Amino acid sequence: MKRVGIVTSGGDAPGMNAAIRGLVRLSALEGFEVLGFERGWEGLLTNETSHLGPRSVGGILNVGGTILHTTRSPRFKQQNNLKHAARILAQNRIDCLFVIGGNGSFEGALELSRHTDVQLIGLPASIDNDVYGTDETIGFDTAVNTAVTEIDKIRDTALSHERAFIVEVMGRTRGFLALTVGLNVGAEVILVPEVKTPMKQIVRVLTENAEKGKKSSIIVAAEGVGDTRKLAAEIEKSEKIEVRLTVLGYVQRGGSPTARSRTLAFTFAEKAVDLLSQNSGNRIVVLKDGEVTSVSLEETCSHRKRLDLSLLKLAERLST
Ligand code: F6P
Repeated sequence: MKRVGIVTSGGDAPGMNAAIRGLVRLSALEGFEVLGFERGWEGLLTNETSHLGPRSVGGILNVGGTILHTTRSPRFKQQNNLKHAARILAQNRIDCLFVIGGNGSFEGALELSRHTDVQLIGLPASIDNDVYGTDETIGFDTAVNTAVTEIDKIRDTALSHERAFIVEVMGRTRGFLALTVGLNVGAEVILVPEVKTPMKQIVRVLTENAEKGKKSSIIVAAEGVGDTRKLAAEIEKSEKIEVRLTVLGYVQRGGSPTARSRTLAFTFAEKAVDLLSQNSGNRIVVLKDGEVTSVSLEETCSHRKRLDLSLLKLAERLST
């Protein structure tokens, strides 16, 4: 009987529990035993496990976060720790480890794969949607809708006071969340780490908006573009426009996953269990042009997902 492990690693994302539910129940149908490793890679290093059966995952598909908890574990990639993790997997007689997480988690999985024959199969889950090879990650749709709902409310007060608002969303290095949210709230300016936007260009847009009679402006900025507090002060100083700042923060990481995030979680889990049954390890499940398929761990870790800048242009034209 195969024994499979499940670990959730890195920043949590709404839908991780739905993915755990899918993996546990579909594995049980194959007669596999399931062991959860607590607290991400740290819990693997300290051998913190819990047996998971179909009843263990009842009532969690609609709950944000992860019942297995998670950590960020920079030390995991040290050679001695990778070797220790491989020993822990062997000690638990694990045949396959399902890794639910983002880029950092898959980099750790790739390093671990060099020290173990255990099949490593990834399910991309991150609100950043920055995993190469997949059009979408579990949790991204939920974070987008959370941010859109909150920024629609900000638009109300921006209009009432005829103000400009900078709204900082998550995305430490990439702008997928900021771009999708900005497009869907009709942002007048969208700032992403991938594109350097000069201050004078921001001020020009705000000024032109006011001259065109627009009563409010929303600037959606990924946290990775820099100090948004400083940006707000500079805009206000240069343009005599009242500017306010809202940092959405961690509300984007929680909440009940949308049906879309749940569907992604379940279909990714189905594909992951299929890959295991086909002994096709060291791969991550992906959504590509509407199809659930897979790419190698090597490929996803050695490439950088490209931001579709045409959407930036579309957002700009729509906010005219
Ligand atoms: O990786 C997802 C993410 O939410 C990023 O968008 C954000 O910058 C980061 O995690 C925050 O990390 P932490 O939860 O460790 O503060």
